[in-house]
Amino acid sequence: MDVNQLMATAKALMTEGKGLLAMDESNPTCNKRFAALGIAQTPEARRAYRDLIVTTPGLGDFISGAILFDETLRQQTNAGISFVDALKKAGIIPGIKVDTGARDMAGFPGEKVTEGLDGLRPRLAEYAAMGARFAKWRAVITVGDGIPTWSCIEANAHALARYAALCQEAGLVPIVEPEVLMDGSHTLEQCLAATEKSQHALFHQLYQMRVDLRGVILKPNMVLPGKACPRQDPVDRVADVTVTCLLANVPAILPGVAFLSGGQSAELASQRLQAMNLRFQGRMPWALTFSYSRAIQQPALELWKGQPANIPAAQRALHQRAACNSAARRGVYNAAMEKHPGQS
Ligand code: G3H
Repeated sequence: MDVNQLMATAKALMTEGKGLLAMDESNPTCNKRFAALGIAQTPEARRAYRDLIVTTPGLGDFISGAILFDETLRQQTNAGISFVDALKKAGIIPGIKVDTGARDMAGFPGEKVTEGLDGLRPRLAEYAAMGARFAKWRAVITVGDGIPTWSCIEANAHALARYAALCQEAGLVPIVEPEVLMDGSHTLEQCLAATEKSQHALFHQLYQMRVDLRGVILKPNMVLPGKACPRQDPVDRVADVTVTCLLANVPAILPGVAFLSGGQSAELASQRLQAMNLRFQGRMPWALTFSYSRAIQQPALELWKGQPANIPAAQRALHQRAACNSAARRGVYNAAMEKHPGQS
């Protein structure tokens, strides 16, 4: 393991003013989003959509790294070059999702554990040889009646830590993603309790597995009420509770934290990131940025609708969301940016 190389990659991913773009939807997830908009659910449609994203002019001004799915890593752009090379050309570091999905956890109704450790070492070696420089693994924690259990939290934290150790051995920076879901009617306080436990357990396991935290990025959920909760807390409260939770549970030596969006609207995801960076300016030991999928892509996907003629408009929308989140990462985002697509 070359820790200097890991630290250099993590630092580059956390470049000031930039964040990550998650474009690593599995085929079933991508197909579900396409089906909702009447887009064909084929390998070629998925390739064409990823081509639209990667060739968006100026994307590298705001995006430091992009997370790909296995299928995309093996595909080519319209111009006939690999997506890895196209990303590099755009100044974006290529990464890869390596878990194989969250499955029902035996004996724990309503809870899931993420799979993918079997055969991971050779897969990571292949991805590194193909040009990936970082990886992602997502664990899913559900809030509900009597859940999450410690068993679920610990099983997922253990898997995340074993994945992270294997990534570092292969020279890839692991992004560790313990996601407390927004599904349900739970309160912000219930989300906080689950998030604290998940982060605490995760860093304990990373320590146990001898993972070097200087080469790790945390991808957490924001602390939010469930989507169906009647009380939706204001932006500043979400910002304060989320960062306080991180300060209490995430070691200072970690280079960065990059949030998932988890089903928030695109604008709220920008507003909340902005509030955190503004209110805690100079008081956080790590960079605080975004690693959004839906909150960056959704407006573009809705404009594209699978039609080549809509590509320029979709690319402008994608560029705008990336610019807004870049501004939020710097603490200079404001509502006026929503009215002028493309403004940074
Ligand atoms: O693993 C989840 C993705 O990387 C982030 O997706 O921003 O839509 O939650 P999201």
